[in-house]
Amino acid sequence: MPSRGRAPANLAPLPGAHSVVGCLGRPLLDDDFLRDPYPAYRRLRDSAPVAWSDEFFGGAWLVSRHVDVDMVLRDARFSAQRTGGWVMRGSEQRTELRGFQRLFARALIFLDAPDHARVRQVMTSAFRPADLQRLAPRLEQVINHRLDALDPASGFDFVSQLARPLPAQAIATLMGVDDEGAPGGFLEGSNELADFLGAVDPSRNQALQAQAALLKMATRFESALKQRRQSGDKAGRDDVLDRLVRAERDGQIRGSAELLAQCVMLLFAGHETTRHLLANGLQILLKHPTAWRSLAHDPSVLPAAVRELLRFDSPVQYTGRRVTTELKLHGQTLRRGDLVVALIGSANRDPDQHERPDEFDITRRPTPSLAFGQGPHVCLGAALTLMEAQMVFSQLLKRWPHLALQDADLVSRMGSPLYRGPRELFVRLPRVAAANQPGPYTAAVS
Ligand code: HEM
Repeated sequence: MPSRGRAPANLAPLPGAHSVVGCLGRPLLDDDFLRDPYPAYRRLRDSAPVAWSDEFFGGAWLVSRHVDVDMVLRDARFSAQRTGGWVMRGSEQRTELRGFQRLFARALIFLDAPDHARVRQVMTSAFRPADLQRLAPRLEQVINHRLDALDPASGFDFVSQLARPLPAQAIATLMGVDDEGAPGGFLEGSNELADFLGAVDPSRNQALQAQAALLKMATRFESALKQRRQSGDKAGRDDVLDRLVRAERDGQIRGSAELLAQCVMLLFAGHETTRHLLANGLQILLKHPTAWRSLAHDPSVLPAAVRELLRFDSPVQYTGRRVTTELKLHGQTLRRGDLVVALIGSANRDPDQHERPDEFDITRRPTPSLAFGQGPHVCLGAALTLMEAQMVFSQLLKRWPHLALQDADLVSRMGSPLYRGPRELFVRLPRVAAANQPGPYTAAVS
């Protein structure tokens, strides 16, 4: 269990500690921050690189410089086991959220050594690079099919038409659950899970809804896994689910709760994050027409552009760790049990790591960013995400190099400090460009 043998989180820092309010003159999380967190991050990095905030999970240290975020993510003094106090805040919630905690805490992302290394090895060998090559033509088909059905002259919501369904389809296909009730079925409830994960102070209701969603996803997986166990190797499939079932049979995965936790987490992680990279990425590119035009002219720069999108406005803005041994950092005493919020979004704008960090520059000399994390928990899905983003952007550039935002000022954001991305993103071709566009939609433009 996550909090086994750990001191409870301390409720307040030692007197004299730097606090976010002391540094910024106000709490961090307001509408301005959700719209543009970067000015606040800059002030934290400059004046309080380790600052206490009461706003995150009842109290946590915010770490904002690249070098420190990197250290927190690599160093074993910071544990990934942090779900106990998060899911089960009050004593009442302890009983009613036991099912949630039982599954959630077993997911790879919340494990420490040695369990983490054991499960990670299974996941790495289940999630093979060769699978991505096999997946590519199928994804190309899905992208083309979806784009063919759109009318860019009258505009469309890029999130509901592509950014949301495509990553769901990709991960479901890799896992082998796309034909067992369609990915939509497995993903039912993932919004509730995203709301819980994205909240810095989740309410009991949010936790209960997330639990219901998680358990529903788990039940669907349970029946799919049962079939796989029964058919064994006879069915001739070789997808991620089959490999996980084999690992369970060989004792590398211990018990069905551990297996279910990996399935649910992989499906969720596989689509929620990529969705934000695609939608936020397109929004940024369309707001930087010079970059968009130069990509249309020379698509070979696309991989670098996607890396720059990940750095410039990271889809996942932070992750958490719990302190296992008292330590000092920038004069602050972090005590055993304290929660640390490692601000990836801030680290990726740190001028000590990136030249001109607030400029979006697809031609910049690449320096490693922390968008996919670092150390033992570094993202398992990075290659898949990069492939999806490159495929989507290259199709859009090829088809509609004059694509534009319908209303750049009216983009509604996710409303969570964790995810950077729009809820909806309406785009269209300007009239003149649409009229010159070959294909079925030319006639639609008068
Ligand atoms: C834009 C897309 C993505 C971003 C920005 C992203 C970001 C991250 C980050 C920051 C971490 C480290 C978390 C930590 O250290 O606490 C992580 C871990 C992870 N990601 Fe991703 N991710 C993305 C896409 C994906 C996809 C597509 C998948 C699955 C197919 C995936 C699966 C995972 C898994 C399984 C872990 C946990 C690894 C471990 O704990 O060893 N991610 N991701």
